[in-house]
Amino acid sequence: MTDTQQNQLWGGRFTESTDAFVQAFTASVNFDKRMYAQDIRGSIAHATMLAEAGVLTDAERDAIIEGLNTIKGEIERGEFQWSVALEDVHMNIEARLTDRIGITGKKLHTGRSRNDQVATDIRLWLRDEIDFIDGEMKRLMEGFLGLAEREAATIMPGFTHLQTAQPVTFGHHLLAWFEMIRRDRERLADCRKRVNRMPLGSAALAGTTYPIIRERTRELLGFDEVCFNSLDAVSDRDFAIEFCALAALCMTHLSRMSEELVLWTSAQFQFINLPDRFCTGSSIMPQKKNPDVPELVRGKTGRVNGHLIALLTLMKSQPLAYNKDNQEDKEPLFDAADTLKGCLRAFADMIPAIEPNREIMREAARRGFATATDLADYLVRKGIAFRDAHEIVGKAVAHGVASKKDLADMSLSELQQFSNEIGEDVFDVLTLEGSVSARNHIGGTAPEQVRAAVSRSRQLL
Ligand code: ARG
Repeated sequence: MTDTQQNQLWGGRFTESTDAFVQAFTASVNFDKRMYAQDIRGSIAHATMLAEAGVLTDAERDAIIEGLNTIKGEIERGEFQWSVALEDVHMNIEARLTDRIGITGKKLHTGRSRNDQVATDIRLWLRDEIDFIDGEMKRLMEGFLGLAEREAATIMPGFTHLQTAQPVTFGHHLLAWFEMIRRDRERLADCRKRVNRMPLGSAALAGTTYPIIRERTRELLGFDEVCFNSLDAVSDRDFAIEFCALAALCMTHLSRMSEELVLWTSAQFQFINLPDRFCTGSSIMPQKKNPDVPELVRGKTGRVNGHLIALLTLMKSQPLAYNKDNQEDKEPLFDAADTLKGCLRAFADMIPAIEPNREIMREAARRGFATATDLADYLVRKGIAFRDAHEIVGKAVAHGVASKKDLADMSLSELQQFSNEIGEDVFDVLTLEGSVSARNHIGGTAPEQVRAAVSRSRQLL
């Protein structure tokens, strides 16, 4: 690469070429080249609009579009020579266009700056990612619904403080996970609205003197609206921060689920099995089957949280308008999107493959006095005040702890020691099935409610 080539995009003002280290240090092409398709799409729309505005002739427009499409093919076939000397994806493509079609290539940048170009490219790129992620979230949600329907009546202990609290149905637990991702998907859709606005036309910072038709470019690129202020449009990356925030929140949800999956697959819980294809072994301990997928998802949450903080910090002290700082927006954003996609995919594949150990779950719910609240509610229905009922059941539980018996395993006369309001019908509420079926209102754990929630949720998807 000669010096004239090196500085061809701003060479006029410069008397010496860029220091080799500085050139590599300031370049972004190694990572921003992944936006090549969006960059070319934006350039084609820009050239199309310029011709309609009379800034380019139709022949110039056609040469530019043909050249850009050829370059796209070169990139996709791996034939394109990316050059760090040309700094970024935008200048690499533009320089190649001029190589191919000559002086007309140099007209593409009329009425545009890399500042509005890059902001447009990132938004186009992120919009594509959002649409893909939306599909993965939907796939995961369908997985939750399928499993919840199958396990609507499967009983497990529900926990608070990770101590056995009350029996719940496994289907109900899965629907709690469904709700988390449902909200994440809403946040994604909301974020998309603000991503889908077009900076192009803002030029470097103040707009341009050419008679551009922003509405036309907007339409060609499928943006909902144009950004209203050129200074803001080239400089703010709040849309990327918003995406990282929802990605971090979604990862946090996946991480909570991962934590439960790791616990449930342990020898101590044994609530579920994960098929071997989602696990790995140990090179030293032959008996090991490790839940690597959920563990990794839990671990990857940290990097997405990190990317969110990186972008917030990147933005916080920037004066208007564009600053080179913003070149640092891409790697965190790219990695946040890649990580979220990978984790959602792993979960969407894994969830339908969960094999519950129903007997073990049920047995765990039977231990730990999970129906103590049901006994208290029973006493309230017999006319005892709730606080007194709480006290009575507390004593019964203490007796159960000392005699190593669950409430349902005590005889009627044993239970009557604590209250003579207790009758034969108490055993209906002390059973696990009785306990879960009694919580039969919208949002409750009863199998009937789980089935209703599944069909309601299917409508939503
Ligand atoms: N590579 C730059 C970025 O990622 C493109 C915009 C550069 N603009 C400029 N005036 N240096 O932000």
